[in-house]
This record gives sequence, structure tokens and C-alpha cells, in this order.
Amino acid sequence: MKKVHVAILGGSGYTAVELIKILLRHPHVHIEAITSRQEGSPAVSELHPSLKGRIEVKLEPLDAGRLVERGVQCAFGCLPHGVSMETMPDLLARGIRVVDLSADYRLRDPNVYAQWYGESHHDLPNLARAVYGLPEIYGDDIPNAQLLANPGCYPQTAILGLAPLVAGRHIDLKSIVVDSKSGVSGGGRTPKLAFHFPECNESIVAYGIGNHRHTPEIEQALGDIAGSPVEVIFTPHLVPMDRGISTSIYATPTRSFTEAQLNELYREYYRNAPFVRICDKPPATKDTAHTNFLDLHLRVVRGRIVVLAAEDNLIRGASGVAVQNFNRMFGFDERTALL
Ligand SMILES: NC(=O)c1ccc[n+]([C@@H]2O[C@H](COP(=O)([O-])OP(=O)(O)OC[C@H]3O[C@@H](n4cnc5c(N)ncnc54)[C@H](OP(=O)(O)O)[C@@H]3O)[C@@H](O)[C@H]2O)c1
Repeated sequence: MKKVHVAILGGSGYTAVELIKILLRHPHVHIEAITSRQEGSPAVSELHPSLKGRIEVKLEPLDAGRLVERGVQCAFGCLPHGVSMETMPDLLARGIRVVDLSADYRLRDPNVYAQWYGESHHDLPNLARAVYGLPEIYGDDIPNAQLLANPGCYPQTAILGLAPLVAGRHIDLKSIVVDSKSGVSGGGRTPKLAFHFPECNESIVAYGIGNHRHTPEIEQALGDIAGSPVEVIFTPHLVPMDRGISTSIYATPTRSFTEAQLNELYREYYRNAPFVRICDKPPATKDTAHTNFLDLHLRVVRGRIVVLAAEDNLIRGASGVAVQNFNRMFGFDERTALL
């Protein structure tokens, strides 16, 4: 079978290196180009020594026309939000399919984007046709997507942690509290003071209380699943570990549940979802590290429902689910190349 030629944009970053490692295992993919602003076209393994001996590609400036000439069919955007919506229109206009890991195409309503991201959206035509790429929920829309908005890391734990309850209207849709903790790689490789070792080591701090940008993304997807508006209090925390997200979700049920009933509900809802695991014990981030699994554990405490979720923010939260989406877009088994 002819391999799909792909390009990775933003090659020096954390999601890019994870993506490269996954795609090197993919039997139907050829990495044609890795683009970057880095000067002097260094080998990708100079920036990511873990790739030494595994890939010879040199980083290059982004030139959409050249990518088309070289047969690139799909570009993975590992760029910051704001930069993505300036970059993608040219690629899309030239017929390249895009999996965008940034937040630029996740929120359908440009006014909501402007409100939460503090700038107006610059690419309304493509925003209107973007598909939100959470395979377990929007799987049927993904094969035909030309522009796929890869979901955020925290939102996946909240959305998949709540989907079966919200779909069946088994909880009060305004009672939801989502408390998340993320490892420091969630902030990317680009240096920022809060992520500097002495600032975050031996310390846990909440941030974005009431105004974190993943809130409207969670509410949009849960609203789609419920068929009516959903309100979430979302509080993320930065914890001193490299990678992983642990999320604790609390909600008030509209009927009484036993834990056995909850487990049955979730197992049935995710029966065709190879990367969602329903666990008998609270999931540890270590048990999902370097994998595309999202683990869930369900409890009833004093009549309330408690859902615990864990994932690797760089794999399931970003590059792993990007490949899961790519597999669906190009007609491969969605598990291909994923652990
Ligand atoms: N980290 C996570 O856990 C995670 C999870 C889900 C989604 N995401 C999203 O995925 C995207 C990439 O995240 P990341 O963690 O890989 O970030 P990162 O490590 O900071 O890498 C982003 C890369 O984008 C390029 N870049 C930065 N500023 C740019 C600019 N102004 N113009 C053009 N290129 C620029 C740089 O690559 P070059 O130096 O090679 O040009 C940079 O290394 C972000 O939108 C992020 O929100 C991240």
C-alpha cells in the first residue's frame, strides 16, 4: 500500500517529538517534512536527541507550495494557538488535510473564541467546516474532515469522564465540578516562568480558576452530547511531574445509582472505544504514561457521583489522539501505531 506523506509543523516542540515517535511506528505513513523556525536546518535529532538514529530528516521552513509538490497529503499542526489560524488556510486551500493540535478550530462560535482567547478569529471559513476530533464522540464526522481540530488535553478527561452520564441525563447538568492536575509538559517546551523548575518543583498550584480556556471546550462537547447547555466549574492545577493528567469529577445524579450500575453504563457506552478503559481502582497517571489510553474509575459517595480519570497529556491528550484521528481520516484501523 502507498504510504501517506505527512508533514509536522512546529518540529521543536513536545507534541511534535511525540508525534514523530508514533508516526515512525506507523506502517502507512512517510514523514516527508518537519517544519520549524529554527535557523540553519538542523537535523531533527539535534533538537530531540531521543530521535538519534531513528530519523534523518532536517528541519525546514514551512513552504506550503513545496509540501504539495512533494506529495504531502496531511499536515499535523503542533503550533501555538493564534499561529495555527494564520498558517492553516494556505495549506487547506492547496488541498492538504490538516490535524491541528492547537485550540484555534475547537470552538465553533467565533464569539466564544474571542471571549476566551482575547482575540478575534482570523479564519472563519475554515472554522465553520472544522470537525472536533474526539473520536469516541464525533467518530462518524472524522473520516470526511479536511480540517480536524484535535481536542485539548484536560477536556478529554472531563468529556469522556462525563459523556455516559450526560447522554442519559443522569446528572444535574449544572452540578458538575471538574478538578484536574497536570504535569508540567502540558505547558509545552517554550519556556515560561511558572514552569521554571524552582517555581513548580515541590509545589502544587491551581490556576485559571473560573477562566481557563478549556472550560468552553468542555461545555461545548458536553452540550452536544446532552442536547442542551451544560455548566462546568473547572479548576486545573500544575503538579511537579513531567507528564500526565489526573482529573476528579463530581456531579449530582438525577436518580440513584449503585457503583455496579455506573460501571455497566460506562462499559456499555464505551464498548467500541479501544482506548477508554473502565478500571476497578482509581487510575494512576503512571498507568497511562506513554500510551493513548484514558482510564476511568467510577464511585458513588454520599449519593454523589465521583468519576476519576487519568491520561498522558502528550499522547492521549495530544499526539496519540491526533494519530487516532488521522487513522480514521485516512481509513486505517484507529489503533494503528498506537500503544
Ligand atoms: N503540551 C501538551 O500537553 C498539549 C496537549 C494538547 C494540546 N497542545 C497544543 O499543541 C500545540 C503544541 O504544543 P506543544 O506542547 O508541542 O508546544 P511547544 O512545545 O511550545 O511547541 C510549539 C512549537 O511551535 C513553534 N512555534 C512557537 N511559536 C511560534 C510562532 N510564533 N510561529 C511559528 N511557530 C511557533 C515552535 O517550533 P519551532 O521552534 O520548531 O518553530 C514550538 O516549539 C499547542 O497549541 C498546545 O496548546 C499541547
